[in-house]
Amino acid sequence: MAGPCGRADPLVGWTSSLRRPLGDGIVHPPMGRESGIISRCRRWAAIAARRVFGPRFIRHYIGPMRKRTVPERSAPRPNPLAVELRDSYTIRRGYSPLLTRYHYNAVENAVLECLIGLELPASPHVLDIGSGAGHWIDFYRDLFSAERVVGVELRPAVVDLLNENYASAEGVIVVAADVSDQLPIDGHFDIVNAIGVMFHIVDDDRWRHALQNVAARLRPGGILIAGGQFGPITHDVGFAYAGSPDGGRRVLKRLRSRSEWRRAGHSAGLKHERYVRARRFRQFDTPEANIMLFRRI
Ligand SMILES: C[S@@+](CC[C@H](N)C(=O)[O-])C[C@H]1O[C@@H](n2cnc3c(N)ncnc32)[C@H](O)[C@@H]1O
Repeated sequence: MAGPCGRADPLVGWTSSLRRPLGDGIVHPPMGRESGIISRCRRWAAIAARRVFGPRFIRHYIGPMRKRTVPERSAPRPNPLAVELRDSYTIRRGYSPLLTRYHYNAVENAVLECLIGLELPASPHVLDIGSGAGHWIDFYRDLFSAERVVGVELRPAVVDLLNENYASAEGVIVVAADVSDQLPIDGHFDIVNAIGVMFHIVDDDRWRHALQNVAARLRPGGILIAGGQFGPITHDVGFAYAGSPDGGRRVLKRLRSRSEWRRAGHSAGLKHERYVRARRFRQFDTPEANIMLFRRI
């Protein structure tokens, strides 16, 4: 864009939001917090860091260090999944349909990368943990002709909707349960699928219990597909700021390191066999979507 002298104005574009016309024809620099050169540099550094490292890196490693004070919310928000079952709601309310598709394409490919070449039964029995909108129930039925699919879902309202949706699907049932507790299901499974769910169990003991519970439901040689983020360090990334008892933040998502997963898996009788990083464009902040494959010893 041209400036007043016909030359490109370096301030027009992404920095123009820092300036405000006040009706007198003069562009004033913003007042208060934004006016200092230091805060302006900080914002530029933040934008540059976001461009270089990508929004997911910022959310994982920089965001959690920020301090926030948010007023307490009067009533809890309804769970959007209980209103309408859609993949985009399992990610975030109002999430873009295209990014949703992009996310699931990437995770499906990572899962396929794990499974292609493995010897699987022709019509496997699958246990799906944290079924959400039912994406992985459909995936194993459509691609692997799963004969039996049992979903385990924490929220009873979601369970009711899923059971309504799958009423005419033979071999599909969804039970309301917390995977960290005793599971109210019978039999053993060829595949346990736990994608986008284990990091919601923020208490480490309950997370280990959950892993033991799913391992106990696998037949010997059966596989666990765990989807999430498995980096070099264990850290918390999702927080709720409103309504916390001490006015602080409540952890919603805890990402355990790959070595912690391996150790906990080993104690649960699971051998780690494969790790696949989902291929995703760094500038899209889609949910954690890498895959670890374990086998029941
Ligand atoms: C982010 S969604 C992922 C849904 C689905 N697995 C997918 O990838 O599309 C997480 C789901 O797990 C469920 N969930 C969270 N914690 C759980 C637990 N401890 N036991 C069972 N389900 C849980 C949530 O209610 C939600 O439906």
